Amino acid sequence: MTDIIAVSGLRKSFGTTEVLRGLDLTVARGTVLALLGPNGAGKTTLISILSTLVRPDAGTVTVAGHDVAREPEAVKAAISLTGQSAAVDDVLTGAENLRMMGRLSGLTRSAAARRADELLARFDLVEARGRRVKTYSGGMRRRLDLAISLLSTPPVVFLDEPTTGLDTRARAALWDIIRDLAATGTTVLLTTQYLEEADQLADRIAVLAQGRIVAQGTAAELKALVGGEVVSLVDASGELVRELPTDGTVEGLRAALDAMGTDAATASVQLRRPSLDDVFLHLTSTPTGADSDTDSRGRELAATKG
Ligand SMILES: Nc1ncnc2c1ncn2[C@@H]1O[C@H](COP(=O)(O)OP(=O)(O)O)[C@@H](O)[C@H]1O
Ligand SMILES: [Mg+2]
Repeated sequence: MTDIIAVSGLRKSFGTTEVLRGLDLTVARGTVLALLGPNGAGKTTLISILSTLVRPDAGTVTVAGHDVAREPEAVKAAISLTGQSAAVDDVLTGAENLRMMGRLSGLTRSAAARRADELLARFDLVEARGRRVKTYSGGMRRRLDLAISLLSTPPVVFLDEPTTGLDTRARAALWDIIRDLAATGTTVLLTTQYLEEADQLADRIAVLAQGRIVAQGTAAELKALVGGEVVSLVDASGELVRELPTDGTVEGLRAALDAMGTDAATASVQLRRPSLDDVFLHLTSTPTGADSDTDSRGRELAATKG
């Protein structure tokens, strides 16, 4: 089995809110997949289902070959999940928390101590190691939480917006850790709202919008989805006036220029290749509907690369 995560026809509603509406997704063993989506798209819901914390309404979901609904214990044994700061004991120090959680996750006393030291160093918590967690700032808690989730490295690691709230330095440290995990064969599924992060870290990117994966592929494949060129209008001082993506044809350029209006007539035109931001906007800002252009194009790409 090469797909360590396999999701098919997944549906989940909360009350009358349909969050996931027939989501299909596979993740190959030992790869990093970035799940990209706007706020409220359902990223956390999907991660919660994959980690057995939330039950799906319909569809099949397997992680490491185990069905999340029928074999939740086997799934839990194969995964690690962040966002469990609730497990952090405020009265203990950072180092004590790490060692205790290390022991609970099955490491020997010396292995837990060693791993705790490594992670304290990586997450810039060495100076604070002997302080009680209740004196930690929000950012320090977040780093400790991430460190705890990486104490042992099971086959699959879920990171739900791991770099949210981290400063540049902590973010860089986490990126390094994620790269190390991937290099040792761990499968990582991370969610992010940052395109740059997806581009930097992920082997593949899946875009979640309107309850489905509307596109997936490498960063380059996704950029190709937007097609041709983005037309930019800049004013005399080089400031961007307006931009529109086009299909790269003469007709497409003409239409884009017309759409930009005559008030921009004195601006000059530049063309550039689409960025991941363009892809993201293109895929997530189109109207809902199973027959929308975006949806069918996304499916096509997913199908050809699946
Ligand atoms: N336990 C819950 N009860 C009710 N609504 C929920 C619950 N969890 C999530 N939602 C709703 O589901 C939608 C998707 O949320 P979420 O998965 O957190 O999105 P994301 O992580 O992409 O920001 C939102 O509209 C959110 O309000
Ligand atoms: Mg979320």
